[in-house]
Amino acid sequence: MKILMVCLGNICRSPLAEGILRSKLNDKFTIDSAGTGPWHIGKSPDKRSVSVAEKYGIDISTQRARQFSAADFDKFDLIFVMDESNYSDVLAHAKNDDERKKVRLILENRDVPDPYFGEDDGFEEVYRLLEEAADKIAQELESE
Ligand code: 4NP
Repeated sequence: MKILMVCLGNICRSPLAEGILRSKLNDKFTIDSAGTGPWHIGKSPDKRSVSVAEKYGIDISTQRARQFSAADFDKFDLIFVMDESNYSDVLAHAKNDDERKKVRLILENRDVPDPYFGEDDGFEEVYRLLEEAADKIAQELESE
């Protein structure tokens, strides 16, 4: 089972989502992340994401940002997006209903707020939301 986490820049939210979910699943699961935008390709995660993850025992420092592409629909079984805007950007690349069905908002009824331009405590809130979401995803996948 291959799972992709997607946000805008692939430096704040989706690297955390990738690291947190990986920490909850065994290595039969492949987990990756990508951004819909090109600005940070090849960059390390934002240092505020690296430090909040480290605080909870997760190392995301070796991840490197990449951009989402239509080929990801062939490579991944499930694609989790952080907000409505990521949702429409990703769906715009889908060729058919099978591809569209792979895409889900990571939180059922709200966005994971973009912390990039905010204060450091925004990263703590993002971590908390993603930790809860990853717990649910891991439970669901392991019961399949
Ligand atoms: P992310 O946060 O989508 O959670 O990685 C952002 C990072 C960079 C930018 C926007 C959001 N940016 O505009 O450069």
